[in-house]
Amino acid sequence: MTRIDPNMSRTWHRSVLGAAVLGMGVLLEGTSAGAGSMDETPFGNTQDGKAVNLYTLTNDRGASVKFIAYGGIITEINVPDRWGKLGNIVLGFKELADYESKNPYFGALIGRYGNRIGGAKFMLDGTQYQLAANNGPNSLHGGTKGFDKVVWAVEPVGGASGAAARLSYTSKDGEEGYPGTLTVRVVYTLTNDNELRIDYEATTDKPTVVNLTSHSYFNLAGDGTGGIDDHILTINADRYTPVDATLIPTGQLASVAGTPFDFRQGMPIGARIRSNDPQLVYGRGYDHNYVLNRSGSGLSLAARVYEPRSGRIMEISTTEPGVQFYSGNFLDSTLVGAAGQQYRQTDGFCLETQHFPDSPNKPSFPTTVLKPGETLKSTTIHKFSTDAS
Ligand code: BGC
Repeated sequence: MTRIDPNMSRTWHRSVLGAAVLGMGVLLEGTSAGAGSMDETPFGNTQDGKAVNLYTLTNDRGASVKFIAYGGIITEINVPDRWGKLGNIVLGFKELADYESKNPYFGALIGRYGNRIGGAKFMLDGTQYQLAANNGPNSLHGGTKGFDKVVWAVEPVGGASGAAARLSYTSKDGEEGYPGTLTVRVVYTLTNDNELRIDYEATTDKPTVVNLTSHSYFNLAGDGTGGIDDHILTINADRYTPVDATLIPTGQLASVAGTPFDFRQGMPIGARIRSNDPQLVYGRGYDHNYVLNRSGSGLSLAARVYEPRSGRIMEISTTEPGVQFYSGNFLDSTLVGAAGQQYRQTDGFCLETQHFPDSPNKPSFPTTVLKPGETLKSTTIHKFSTDAS
């Protein structure tokens, strides 16, 4: 059991005087009048004895995002339905021990490499790098101990746009087989427009490959309310990357036209998920990267999801070239959520903005190579609204 000492909780509020003030009296960085607050409270200790805190970002409209330092895992996103009632729309566990022992990446920060690298190896500048094969013959989501399983340093950050926290982690040269010391910073911001903004930054001291993403499982009707078949999904993509039987892209950019992968017009997720299409059989549902239609390198709309019962809408914009649509195919009833209910296949979906899977072995895909002197910068925004707003 996690023991929580309420005396150890702290709250940061944005001061109207133009600086962030810690509830305990310490002045923090930040210079502009802002919004919202960040609360910090103990969540538990890892099996190897590291203390892990739970953080709550709350905006001026009462919406909140909760996350823990372990894996940067977003444990709750509480946003209003069409009647204004707040509800949590992401899947998660109650205890840290569950996140440590059986998490199918619920809410986690993913790195160094989001999704798969084929054969768990890649060549870079004439050297072959061997990774842990933790998903059949392939490497998935950064290997055995990816960024979802490390404890991140967390600090509140200033800024006018909302309640925000910076998460930092330095991955050692050779960690999980990847070259270069990788310094990663991720900022979670909850704006007063009910947007969850995720800004990623990374630098390296040797050439390496990086693909960072966030792995929330959404159910816009509310965590634990059942399946996501009726969610109406639009993906702004004319093409996707078909996969082989081990879910590694073939390298082809295939048209979605005339296939169950066409979400250019809003379609219920469940409408075609049982089609006898070999691609859907390989993934046991949707588990595919979409090639986003984009112009320029700025933020562009990737996907929109509408849930008719609650009226909730989520719009995702990103600077990334792709999004992995995963329909929660590998969820099974061995996982029991925070509200005490068991999860089943397709009780949540992920839309992971990213570079394409297996890019280190696919020279025709947008590059994931990061070199010394460069800074990887990537932003994804989840905007929450309803059909009443
Ligand atoms: C992958 C799935 C995998 C899941 C793990 C997704 O990003 O595409 O294949 O099973 O993560 O939870």
